[in-house]
Amino acid sequence: MNIALFGAPGAGKGTQSAALVDRKGMKHISTGDLFRYAIKNETPLGLEAKKYIDAGNLVPDAVTIGLVREELKCVGDTGFILDGFPRTVPQAEALEGLLQENGKTLDQVLFLEVPKGQLMSRLTGRRVCKSCGAVNHIDAKPTKIEGVCDICGGESVQRIDDQEETIANRLDVYENSTAPLKSFYKEAGKLVELDGTGPTDEVFERIQEVLDRN
Ligand code: AP5
Ligand code: MG
Repeated sequence: MNIALFGAPGAGKGTQSAALVDRKGMKHISTGDLFRYAIKNETPLGLEAKKYIDAGNLVPDAVTIGLVREELKCVGDTGFILDGFPRTVPQAEALEGLLQENGKTLDQVLFLEVPKGQLMSRLTGRRVCKSCGAVNHIDAKPTKIEGVCDICGGESVQRIDDQEETIANRLDVYENSTAPLKSFYKEAGKLVELDGTGPTDEVFERIQEVLDRN
């Protein structure tokens, strides 16, 4: 089963992807994580992407599509989760070709619906481990020791783009460029709308039900 998790910044795409990797062994392809890895390693891709990401804008389609093309070359038969891609209609159109090149299909697009009012507090309260990438939240999922990752002991910090002003821009960019994909995938008969609120385990159960139906 190959799926895309789709939803606004803070909808829980990364959190639910981590649970799917843990419990189902699916391959996680997060363009945001790939860009952050490139930034950390100061690669040419990272240097190019950083100026867009720090401002909460989208990295140009050509760069992002090229990155996903490379990732899709190394997916096996475990099934994959696209997290944060596609994010524009041109990306969704390009994805069709990339899948064909690799003899794969995208089975479903799961839309995690979370009211806008909850997104800001999810994002301002998010903390991410600098070493292993584990995601926490200061209220919903605090680390045992403030600022220290429970898993690896690394430093758990706020993402640069999780400042209120940048979040506001990311939410606008989402409305303008990404939300239109909902009708794109509805027309393709692939969209499944899920309630993304409530405890993370309950959200996971909703996802699991959809996967079990297929
Ligand atoms: P990316 O990293 O993909 O960011 P995003 O889409 O803005 O989404 P987030 O990672 O912020 O949210 P999420 O849905 O993963 O939520 P999470 O599970 O962490 O992209 C970053 C940037 O990279 C973009 O702005 C852009 O510049 C660039 N980029 C990436 N992809 C691109 C593309 N395709 N094209 C162009 N540019 C691209 O949860 C958030 C918080 O909420 C956490 O603290 C978590 O603990 C908490 N939480 C999760 N679930 C719950 C729950 N059920 N209840 C309470 N709290 C919860
Ligand atoms: Mg994420």
